[in-house]
Amino acid sequence: MRKPIIAGNWKMYKTPPEACRLVEELKPLISNLPEVEVVVCPPFTSLAAVYDLLQGTNVRLGAQNLHYARDGAYTGEVSGIMLAAAGCRYVIIGHSERRQYFGETDTMINQKVKAALAAGLIPIACVGETLAEREAGQTETVTVRQVEGALQGLSADEAAGLVLAYEPVWAIGTGKTATAAEAQRVIGLIREQVAALFGKEAAVKIRIQYGGSVKPENIKEIMAEPDIDGALVGGASLTAASFASICRFADSPIGDIP
Ligand code: PGA
Repeated sequence: MRKPIIAGNWKMYKTPPEACRLVEELKPLISNLPEVEVVVCPPFTSLAAVYDLLQGTNVRLGAQNLHYARDGAYTGEVSGIMLAAAGCRYVIIGHSERRQYFGETDTMINQKVKAALAAGLIPIACVGETLAEREAGQTETVTVRQVEGALQGLSADEAAGLVLAYEPVWAIGTGKTATAAEAQRVIGLIREQVAALFGKEAAVKIRIQYGGSVKPENIKEIMAEPDIDGALVGGASLTAASFASICRFADSPIGDIP
């Protein structure tokens, strides 16, 4: 009942010509895929060009960050209404790299989630523990705190419509994936927490992705888990063939897990 959503987070990769080349390669590989929502999140400088190329396809455009103000004297920043006007439907918020390198706090992430909703964008709000937190037995407390922080003050309808991404920081860009069972365990807890905060209906509707070293070889097993509704893909979204085969997870043979 929840439509799977596979989003490519291109991070700080691809110039506009490179971004266009990737999208042109990707388009024929993921046509006729109505059962999966596919999102690409290029850097700001490529949004306009990629938007043009995506016309007439089912692929949605997302950004990787926004500022929480509507507009103002914030040199170097980009607002939600600007992203919406540039054709974005989604925006990634609170990625661990934003938390780690740019000092984003749960409070700022909450402001950004609200700003995105006000601009008509769907947030993909990221949560997840670091390796030190996992080793200290804090996976659950950290994740719960981040989910609660990100969703503070939202209505049940708003919460139901957004996307959460559980991305254990130690699995991002490292080649180490959480086992599908472990990702399911934490994502199941997140869904229970959404139920406690916003009611059962919101918990049934909200889509929760897994992220962290998702590849064509492990996506099928990840997507087989009942609470995992998609993936946020970094490295493997930078080449058309690997991202397309992740989006086409339903086509791949069972049992090819490395
Ligand atoms: P990765 O990145 O797939 O390269 O591990 C995921 C992410 O940072 O969203």
